[in-house]
Amino acid sequence: MTENKRSVRRVAVIGTGAIGGAVARRLLADGHDVTVWNRTANRAIDLVNTGARPSGSIEEAAASADLILFTLTDYAAVRQCLSELGTDLSERTIVVMCTGTADDARQAARQVAPTGADYIDAGIQTSPEMMGTDAATILYSGSRAAFERHLTTLASLSRPRFVGEAPDAAAIWDLALFGVWYDAQLGLLRAIDTVRRAGIDVTEFSDTAATQLGHVVAAVPATVAEAREAEYPRGPADLTEHLTVVRHLIGLRAGRHLGDGGLAPVAARIERLIADGRGREGLTATIG
Ligand SMILES: NC(=O)c1ccc[n+]([C@@H]2O[C@H](COP(=O)([O-])OP(=O)(O)OC[C@H]3O[C@@H](n4cnc5c(N)ncnc54)[C@H](OP(=O)(O)O)[C@@H]3O)[C@@H](O)[C@H]2O)c1
Repeated sequence: MTENKRSVRRVAVIGTGAIGGAVARRLLADGHDVTVWNRTANRAIDLVNTGARPSGSIEEAAASADLILFTLTDYAAVRQCLSELGTDLSERTIVVMCTGTADDARQAARQVAPTGADYIDAGIQTSPEMMGTDAATILYSGSRAAFERHLTTLASLSRPRFVGEAPDAAAIWDLALFGVWYDAQLGLLRAIDTVRRAGIDVTEFSDTAATQLGHVVAAVPATVAEAREAEYPRGPADLTEHLTVVRHLIGLRAGRHLGDGGLAPVAARIERLIADGRGREGLTATIG
């Protein structure tokens, strides 16, 4: 028990770039005992001057801590750094905090398993500047016991949210959320491109675009309920009406820098549903 209490406060941060630097600073500010390692050692000097312990190797940093955070560019770097760890890391927890695919997360979990360390994968839904604020969310998946053991430490960084015991759950959740952002933001960019090319004032247009995005946000609970219950009421339009608008948009966006946003397969899917006699259903039927 005493060991567990002590372990919560000893953290190694492997990689002190934008995210790793913000993580280490936040942990230091909350009084944690932080060891840092960075491939380019002089980039960690500011953190050392702020109170972090420098480490000459990944193995030494990992040996000094019970919670080992990998804050690297990508999983290729993670795989390379994990291969430099010692073989016995039992009673330690490794958290990989970088953006990647479900396959990346599963592979990292498999690589960690023989060391005896618990594995947690993290999806960072925050910027370095927001680290440690109430607006920051970091998603975690993998060992629930390790997550709970280190909850106090992880809470220094964000509102920690455990999303499942499968090691890839956080990566899937994280990428799906990035998808929501990209689809909405690129939809906005396509709209701005369209009106600007037509000589319409984009500032004047932006109010109506914001209202439109608000409709998507307001409809989230209803859309989720439809998807969960597999019931697809027509809502503001049925599939036959949606198909007309989608075809107009495909024509309007033809040849544009950002393409049509994947509307061609959407139109094909709606056509198939209509052919199956489901033309009076709503748009959520497309994922049914
Ligand atoms: N920055 C953001 O706003 C943000 C937001 C959400 C998620 N993320 C994700 O968080 C992760 C880290 O992003 P970041 O912005 O902190 O990146 P970054 O500032 O570029 O830092 C990358 C870190 O990885 C290290 N590194 C890269 N390749 C390495 C290798 N082969 N071996 C050892 N160390 C290596 C770098 O070391 P050197 O100093 O030696 O180059 C540096 O410490 C990424 O997966 C990113 O997608 C970032």
